[in-house]
Amino acid sequence: MQSIHVDTFDDWRDAARRLLASGVSPTDVQWIGGAERSLFDDAPSPTAAEHGGRGTTPSVPKAFLELARYVACHRESGRWSLLYRTLWRLTHGERHLLQVTTDDDVHQLMQMRKGVSRDIHKMKAFVRFRKLETGGAEEQFVAWHRPDHRIVRLAAPFFARRFGGMHWSILTPDESVTWDQTSLHYGPGVPASEAPNQDALEDLWKAYYASIFNPARVKVAAMKREMPVRHWPTLPEATLIDDLLRQAPARADAMIQTNEGFAETAAHFMPERGDLVSLRLAAANCRACPLHQCATQTVFGEGSPSARIVLVGEQPGDREDIQGHPFVGPAGKLLDEALKHAGIERREVYITNVVKHFKFKETETPRGKRRLHQKPDSREIYACRPWLEAELAAIGPQVIVCLGATAAQALFGRDFAITKDRGNVMRTDWCDITIATWHPAAILRMQDASRQTQMRTQLVEDLTSVK
Ligand code: URA
Repeated sequence: MQSIHVDTFDDWRDAARRLLASGVSPTDVQWIGGAERSLFDDAPSPTAAEHGGRGTTPSVPKAFLELARYVACHRESGRWSLLYRTLWRLTHGERHLLQVTTDDDVHQLMQMRKGVSRDIHKMKAFVRFRKLETGGAEEQFVAWHRPDHRIVRLAAPFFARRFGGMHWSILTPDESVTWDQTSLHYGPGVPASEAPNQDALEDLWKAYYASIFNPARVKVAAMKREMPVRHWPTLPEATLIDDLLRQAPARADAMIQTNEGFAETAAHFMPERGDLVSLRLAAANCRACPLHQCATQTVFGEGSPSARIVLVGEQPGDREDIQGHPFVGPAGKLLDEALKHAGIERREVYITNVVKHFKFKETETPRGKRRLHQKPDSREIYACRPWLEAELAAIGPQVIVCLGATAAQALFGRDFAITKDRGNVMRTDWCDITIATWHPAAILRMQDASRQTQMRTQLVEDLTSVK
């Protein structure tokens, strides 16, 4: 029997590769994880790196490695041997094992993956950064969180994308991670007693939470499931819950009287103040439709609050979703060029989208996974519409330019045909001068080169007439 020490997925993968190449059967290996190691410390045994192997490693399905990366973060001590046993079976005549969902090992792996995914979701929802009073020039933020599993490395890239412009650290009892606006750095775990717990952000967050709390939807058991009680000590809004629950029946009655709050729209998440800063802050937590579940973040409109021209697109694309700004991908580049030709400075206008979350379908391509844009449906457009209306109300533009059919139909109605009515000035509830023109992405997608040039010219003409 061989004993192998492993702490991380990489340790396990290296060791498993060597054992497999040497033909070592799962029944001849004892896997010892970090937490269990102290029990066995007297008798040193080979580490993953020391354990030499012979022969070649059979190829392993990619889906298994993905699964293993998640399962490796689970706290269950039997995970390493379960993973090696499954790997052995996959490479010894059961190549399609993962499709046999009734198999005990596969079932257990799937349950563990689910537990880890759920924990990552909770970490994304419950991490609250607090500003550190460092006195330095640069603002630093820190959060302390207690995940159920060892998920810091799986979850950290999400925070790097979402809070890419901040210098932050997330401390957990197992491990800590710091983002310096360029790369992630991992360090040892930190006990709760060393994490800061008071600052001004807390009051801002509480005010926001109280404004989105919907008394008509309170289900205490579901709330405890979604926001487990063990996370409450690190959540500033948790101190409000008792009061909000006490007031809920009276507030729900008031909402019934005013017929407010029952449709599934962004109206539930509207802040009291209608300025762009408050709107943007509130929209960051919008859950009016399911698109927030897969998107990286809300991509709210950007630009001058006193802009005379508002440009409205369809929804953020892949780049926008990652960077958190509208029209920064290929369509944005074409738009920038067209604005320049029309003599309009991007910083003078306000640019937004009808739908504020990226909708996509993930597909496998020979070069890896790709996120393919999907058109938002009418329910998603309807759910998101209050944000656009609030942005237009806050700005009061002189001209609205709809980029493409989705934006035009959202403002002019479903019958609007961009091929017929492009460039015509019309009056809408929001503005006396509202026009629609080509969406830059539609121009990029056009296969016919001469038609593409014509559309590009027409976009510039329409923007010039707006100017
Ligand atoms: N397409 C859009 O409609 N909006 C963006 O922000 C980017 C691409």
